[in-house]
Amino acid sequence: MNTSNFVLRGSVCYSAGAESLLVMDDGFLVCEDGVSKGCFPRPPAEYKNFPLVDYSGKLVVPGLTDLHMHAPQYSFRALAMDMELLEWLNTHTFPEEAKYEDLEYAEKAYSILVKDLKEGPNTRALLFATIHVPAAMLLAGMMEESGLVSFVGKVNMDRNSPACLCEKSAGASLAATREWLKLSLGKSWKNTAPILTPRFIPSCSDELMKGLSVIQKEFGLPLHSHLSENRKECAWVRELCPETSGYGNAYERYDLAGGSVPTVMAHCVWSDDGEIKMLAERGVYAAHCPQSNTNLSSGIAPARRFLDAGMRVGLGSDVAGGAHVSIFRAMTDAIQVSKLRQALVSPDEKALTFEEAFYLGTAGGGSFFAAAGAAVHKGGQKGPGPAGSFESGFDFDALVIDDSGLASPSPLSVRDRLERAVYLSDNRNIIAKYVRGNLIHSLPREQTRTKPPQKAPGR
Ligand code: GUN
Ligand code: FE
Repeated sequence: MNTSNFVLRGSVCYSAGAESLLVMDDGFLVCEDGVSKGCFPRPPAEYKNFPLVDYSGKLVVPGLTDLHMHAPQYSFRALAMDMELLEWLNTHTFPEEAKYEDLEYAEKAYSILVKDLKEGPNTRALLFATIHVPAAMLLAGMMEESGLVSFVGKVNMDRNSPACLCEKSAGASLAATREWLKLSLGKSWKNTAPILTPRFIPSCSDELMKGLSVIQKEFGLPLHSHLSENRKECAWVRELCPETSGYGNAYERYDLAGGSVPTVMAHCVWSDDGEIKMLAERGVYAAHCPQSNTNLSSGIAPARRFLDAGMRVGLGSDVAGGAHVSIFRAMTDAIQVSKLRQALVSPDEKALTFEEAFYLGTAGGGSFFAAAGAAVHKGGQKGPGPAGSFESGFDFDALVIDDSGLASPSPLSVRDRLERAVYLSDNRNIIAKYVRGNLIHSLPREQTRTKPPQKAPGR
């Protein structure tokens, strides 16, 4: 089915705020033109002409947003997981990313990624590509084709990088960025848009950052980068930028730290109170990437302090720092590391609840698309709106999960079924996936454990 007007019935769960999970055991979601009109206990008379898609008894949740991922690194996920950040970048990441100069390799690698993304629980992603314009365009085209929503960034790096993955000069990097923007903005993509991605301060010269700031203002582009991830990296930034008051300030001095344009900074593990306050005031999103922070010995990000400071926060896989691309897995990891932080580092920082982690992976990160979509999809096509909730006005991104294979000796509440489905995240249980009202993936009926009738009797 590819129409975007319908009523979908199931056991519906979604966040109504960071601490509140709404559950409707037998709910009716209305999708009109790809946008949610809300969740109702009975099919509203107003929409009686909409077809009913009946998933009674199945869990129905909003699609997930991966706020930080490196598309070219999917090819070596779950390898070299015994190193720290800077060593891992130099020995594995940069040599792998250099391969994307070869479009044939890029096509092979990105095909694997996009197929897996389509079948998993994430409906939206912010993706780093590589420095290569053709491969970044290829990735963006494949993402558009998939029906998923994404921002794709051609990476900028002109210093402290190996010759195989270093742009010749700031001028060359800026010229390539303009060429890529011209190509990207010339496409009539519905779900895909460009985002600026200077890799991080150590790999971008002063001249490059100044030039990117000019480009950002000229095109009104959102920005995606790394901040305060790992102690050795932070020490390096202090050496490189002795005149700044901190890592965040190193972006701020180029006016590349939020403010008027939607911005995501990955990690913020070592952001102090001053940096957190600055990020909160400037509306910058932190992409909290707990699995990567563990794998690369970066630390435990102060997620509780982010929330208490009123900062915008979502979850990221940071593949391949993180080995798992599923944001269900990131929810689990976020809870686990927050418990360790409370137990071992900072007893005053209360661990995250399941409700909070679920919020971060859905509406927390999904809200980024409200402002950022409007910024890039000007005029012409209607760009993506906010995702991650079924409240009226959110884009209709939804997952239907058949958890009937997770046997239990006594019945569980819908809320507990959800928690278990998240912790035991298994893509094979996702029997249908909608993005902006379009069904982009479903399991063939014979593979689902129970066979939901597609239409209710009498409708
Ligand atoms: N900092 C700069 N580049 C990277 C990267 O590719 N992954 C992670 N985790 N951190 C980075
Ligand atoms: Fe990263």
